[in-house]
Amino acid sequence: MHFAKLHTPSQIQLNQYGHLKHFVTIEGLSKETLTKILDTAETFINDNNQLITSPVLEGKTVMNLFFENSTRTRTTFEAAAKRLSANVLNIDIARSSTSKGETLRDTLWNLQAMAADIFVVRHSSSGAAHFIAKDVCPNVAIINAGDGRHAHPTQAMLDMLTIRRETKKPFEELSVAIIGDIKHSRVARSDVAALQTLGCRDIRVIAPNTLLPYGFEEYGSEVRLFKDMNEGVKDCDVIMTLRIQNERIDSPALASQLEFHKMYGLNDARLALAKPDCIVMHPGPMNRGVEITSKIADGSQAVILNQVTNGIAVRMAVLALSMQGQLQEQGLIDSIAL
Ligand code: NCD
Repeated sequence: MHFAKLHTPSQIQLNQYGHLKHFVTIEGLSKETLTKILDTAETFINDNNQLITSPVLEGKTVMNLFFENSTRTRTTFEAAAKRLSANVLNIDIARSSTSKGETLRDTLWNLQAMAADIFVVRHSSSGAAHFIAKDVCPNVAIINAGDGRHAHPTQAMLDMLTIRRETKKPFEELSVAIIGDIKHSRVARSDVAALQTLGCRDIRVIAPNTLLPYGFEEYGSEVRLFKDMNEGVKDCDVIMTLRIQNERIDSPALASQLEFHKMYGLNDARLALAKPDCIVMHPGPMNRGVEITSKIADGSQAVILNQVTNGIAVRMAVLALSMQGQLQEQGLIDSIAL
């Protein structure tokens, strides 16, 4: 897999007023748009760090279309839509007519005819969300919940919200390490793009040769590759660990998981090389004892469960902002007071 940027023209994602319409990828979006998502997400968290509810999407219908497995992402999208008073339909794709030979296009047109306002789409093919937004159902807001190895923009934004809330430092001052299976990870690709857009100047990508993608040169000098983990995590403020994406590896890329743990697993000795207040993140699902020890996963520096909660706030923000785009296009509002 080439790590070169897959360009989704930003005009597909933004409406004529420059506001979010679809959320397919981080790439092409401005710092202002990403900051707007983060700021909107913060409005859904109260001073006691609890999520609030809001009637912003009353009467709107959100359909969750997960063509690939998910626990956190699907559930947090559902929780987010319900907190905004939307109607939520979880479409059971495995039992849908696509299994009787219906094309994806026909399935989506039928769902669109059932008055869908937003499709939240997860698909194993890179580019699926873009294709649906551009060619299939451009009148429904499309939110990408992960497409193949390409992008996972809401995961990136919940990671950015977690970093902003937990470190309380500007992105420009942070050193962030991303460790593990970069090559097959849509999370790594979207996180790198979001960090760069938000101004982070020290992004370290740490992986063995077999899990490193090609095409990194395009990312510029702020993204550096490390094969040596101890060197890579030195003085970091944030460490992001990733699962090995066995389902996306077509040939065995690793000798063994034990070997990976020895070389790249996050343990106490390695974490001690980072800054003392370094936070530890993981998008889940976590393989304890492989990319991270249980002690660190459950330890005081881990913010892994905060990421999950922040995921609801970020998904609320993206759902609400995408409807703002639709309503503006239909001339119904100038902007929703969020
Ligand atoms: C990630 C995904 O699906 O890309 N998980 C998630 O959305 N929480 C990462 C992974 O599967 O390893």
